[in-house]
Amino acid sequence: MTHAVTHVELPSDFLFGAATSAYQIEGGWDADGKGPSIWDRFTHRPGRIRNGDTGDTAAETYRNFQTDIDMMRALGLDAYRFSIAWSRVMPDGRGRVNDKGLDYYDRLVDALLAKGLIPFPTLFHWDLPQALEDDKGGFVHRDTAEYFADYAAAVVRRLGDRVDHWTTLNEPWVHATMGYLIGVHAPGRRDPWAYLRVVHHQLLGHGLAMARIRALRPTARVGIALNLTPFYQAGDSPHDREAADTGDQLLNRLFLDPLFRGRYPDPLWGKMRLFHPRIRPGDMDLIAQPLDFLGVNYYTRSVLRYHRLVPLLHLWPKELGMIAGVDRGPSGVTYTAMGWEVYPAGLFETLLRLKKEYGNPTIYITENGAAFLDTVEPGGRIRDEERRAFLEQHLAVTGAAARVGVDVRGYFVWSIIDNFEWAYGFDKRFGLVHVDFATQQRIIKDSGHWYARLIRAVHGAENGAYEGRGTQGPDSSSHL
Ligand code: FCB
Repeated sequence: MTHAVTHVELPSDFLFGAATSAYQIEGGWDADGKGPSIWDRFTHRPGRIRNGDTGDTAAETYRNFQTDIDMMRALGLDAYRFSIAWSRVMPDGRGRVNDKGLDYYDRLVDALLAKGLIPFPTLFHWDLPQALEDDKGGFVHRDTAEYFADYAAAVVRRLGDRVDHWTTLNEPWVHATMGYLIGVHAPGRRDPWAYLRVVHHQLLGHGLAMARIRALRPTARVGIALNLTPFYQAGDSPHDREAADTGDQLLNRLFLDPLFRGRYPDPLWGKMRLFHPRIRPGDMDLIAQPLDFLGVNYYTRSVLRYHRLVPLLHLWPKELGMIAGVDRGPSGVTYTAMGWEVYPAGLFETLLRLKKEYGNPTIYITENGAAFLDTVEPGGRIRDEERRAFLEQHLAVTGAAARVGVDVRGYFVWSIIDNFEWAYGFDKRFGLVHVDFATQQRIIKDSGHWYARLIRAVHGAENGAYEGRGTQGPDSSSHL
């Protein structure tokens, strides 16, 4: 049975959640025996992060997670996606286990379960132990894949009796591209020779970890979260079409094809021959083990045109064209504070494509959300109508995809709280809940209240109506 709420229609057993990651919220960067991660090192170097921000204290959830869990409960969330900091559990990335680090996640999981929230941990959300970067070059080295699987096993031994859903990696494309090719993320390397090694060894780490998790917990559900971005051609020329296709291979298929088809995408892979990692017999089988679910992180689309002077790939993002005055953004289009075009149809297309081309996997939308400039009114209210509309539109197309047979079972807003947005520091706010980073005070934004009402409406009346603040005025949220 489905329930209509404004434009959103979803099955009543649909899972609603919100997401965070360890480095972005926890703080406590050197507490209780935690080893440094590449993000600790990177943010401590001057000039890397906007305003010199670091995640040293962030939203301080290492000190206090209970407030946020109580809030998630009050909003009626079903599940919470968080990540585990590898270097809390293994300060050197391998070998010795730090029990105090595991204790923290143990308490977190218990606190979630006590409030009826399903824990959805991710094992790697980019905060690689610095020791592995120093000794091995991180995932540039194949050994890191093995260490990752050992770490995953240590976590699952401790938490596997209470956690059913495991996500191995978050957005391996971003870690490889931003961290090792472009250098705007930790560890800040710019090394085309490292790039495809980091891609392959992360995927191998995923495969090895998956096998270990299943051996320890045969009933566990294991998946991976990919950032997927549909590519469109800027003009009508076959060259532009080729550019869009190359972009798609470089970002989406570079991970989808090995995971679902056991091979890297051609013709791109062939063109990048010079940079290939060594692939050993059995690697691709490990990588292509059937997933229990695919996590989809969706934010925007990308529009590309062909450029003959861009080596190898010939692609030129339209955004650059706009800066150079070649292209203009379409009128009537909204951009978020990240400069990302709001394009919900791209989520629908992505979901449909996964059904048609990748065997209709079980999907959770593990991230979707938007940064906008939020203003706290004197009374303490935050009217983030743009964020609310963004969420509504994307949930509406998620429902539409479910109705045409896409096996999408849940949706996690990025994020429950404002947090450390990587290279942008605290400048970009994605939360359903506002955080004052000086006082650690939380205020639920209008979008958070709206999400709570949506969840109540979709799940039906048995949970009771949401008692939080109503939204006045003739906007569509008042339908809730
Ligand atoms: C994704 C990341 C997440 C967050 C959002 C805005 O790429 O997985 O940590 O930064 O973008």
